[in-house]
Amino acid sequence: MALYSDKVMDHFQHPRNVGKMEDADGIGEVGNAKCGDIMRMYIKVDEEKRISDVSFITFGCGSAIASSSMATEMIKGKPIDEVLTLTNKAVTEALDGLPAHKLHCSVLAEEAVKAAVKDYYDKNGIAYDPETLKEGECAACHLNDVHADNP
Ligand code: FES
Repeated sequence: MALYSDKVMDHFQHPRNVGKMEDADGIGEVGNAKCGDIMRMYIKVDEEKRISDVSFITFGCGSAIASSSMATEMIKGKPIDEVLTLTNKAVTEALDGLPAHKLHCSVLAEEAVKAAVKDYYDKNGIAYDPETLKEGECAACHLNDVHADNP
């Protein structure tokens, strides 16, 4: 069986919504200190508090690029409340899976989305429950330190 699903390869080779957004309402930048990968997510929010546009730039591995691409597709057009429930697990499932040692790459996508929403809230003085914006969790990473072993 191939290590990466067709969807992962597709989003890695043809990433959706790539690029810097000049007039973003929120920008989230996150990184993984161990592998050195960095992901930046830009969101545009309309009057109805929906993500009207989203784009990303990822300096990182193929799984991180595929995860960020998929995450943008999953949140585009969605209400912010719904976007905040995005998990790395959902991103991984939408990609038809990632190898265990690459699950942490999808965590970056979840965190980048949340960081962009937090930036939007902060810039607009909107109060929020910090619990909804806490960092993503990768069960595999917590079980074994895959970041260190498999960057
Ligand atoms: Fe760093 Fe994938 S995000 S190896």
